[in-house]
Amino acid sequence: MRTRKLSPALGIELTGIDVARCSDDQFTALRQQWNDAGGLAVIRNQQLTPQSQTDFSRRFGPLFGEDDQFQDTVLPYLMPGYPTIYRVSNKKSSDGNALGRARAGSYWHSDVSFRERPAMASLLYAIEIPGVGGDTQFASQTAAYNALSPAMQKMLAPLNTVHDFRVAASTSGSYSAADINTSDFDGTNSCLHPLVITHPETGQPALFINPGFTSHIDGFEAAESTALLNFLYAHTQQPEFIYRHVWRPGDLVIWDNRSTMHLAIQDYNEDRYLHRSTVIADRPSR
Ligand code: OGA
Ligand code: MN
Repeated sequence: MRTRKLSPALGIELTGIDVARCSDDQFTALRQQWNDAGGLAVIRNQQLTPQSQTDFSRRFGPLFGEDDQFQDTVLPYLMPGYPTIYRVSNKKSSDGNALGRARAGSYWHSDVSFRERPAMASLLYAIEIPGVGGDTQFASQTAAYNALSPAMQKMLAPLNTVHDFRVAASTSGSYSAADINTSDFDGTNSCLHPLVITHPETGQPALFINPGFTSHIDGFEAAESTALLNFLYAHTQQPEFIYRHVWRPGDLVIWDNRSTMHLAIQDYNEDRYLHRSTVIADRPSR
């Protein structure tokens, strides 16, 4: 396995490893590299079937689609016969049905953060990629937290925020009203999380808020909450905390939703088709 750092804030490129056939020792080394790189690994030249991607992903922990379900709204995008594989795509079948979720994640977010047990790792495998465009940006919520003043860190320490699927559901350009399954508003897709969490594997603190799903700071007036969250979002979106991934077919990108957020850039019309599998985290804590 060869490694190359992708940016000072986060990211490691791994080559010379076949994740579908990796030993326990190789997996342990890969997971260590991923943690050391702030929770972002780009593994080139993979050949994964829905089954082998599922089997590899399970080595990180329990999976959405198996041990807990995704929100009902995304069920139409799961791969038939493979409830662990979430298809991200702008393609349509010949009868006009969506082959995946188009415009998935076109706002800064951390996957499934509106659940008590949100996503730990997301593994996104690229099958078809536009000639140019369709990049994904990743921001380090650890680097962003570390760059705050000790006084600001102290102020944030006791705060909690509400995360709610409704925030994304009501954001224009995200889900169309017709897409939304209102059963997702029954309470399971809304919860309270600490604003700053401690990563259970690295012990590193990180901001755990995102514009996609975070509704407000618990106990704050609306204007106070908006002002502070907007400051923190702008802070994290500074270029020095961001890595922008230019996809190649065969890339498997693994990100940690507890220490990063991401955004899919919507600047292409060519076909784009990827498979995501999603590992379930423990409940985040300070
Ligand atoms: C996702 C997501 C980003 C992309 O699959 O969780 O946000 O670039 N996708 O497709
Ligand atoms: Mn996402």
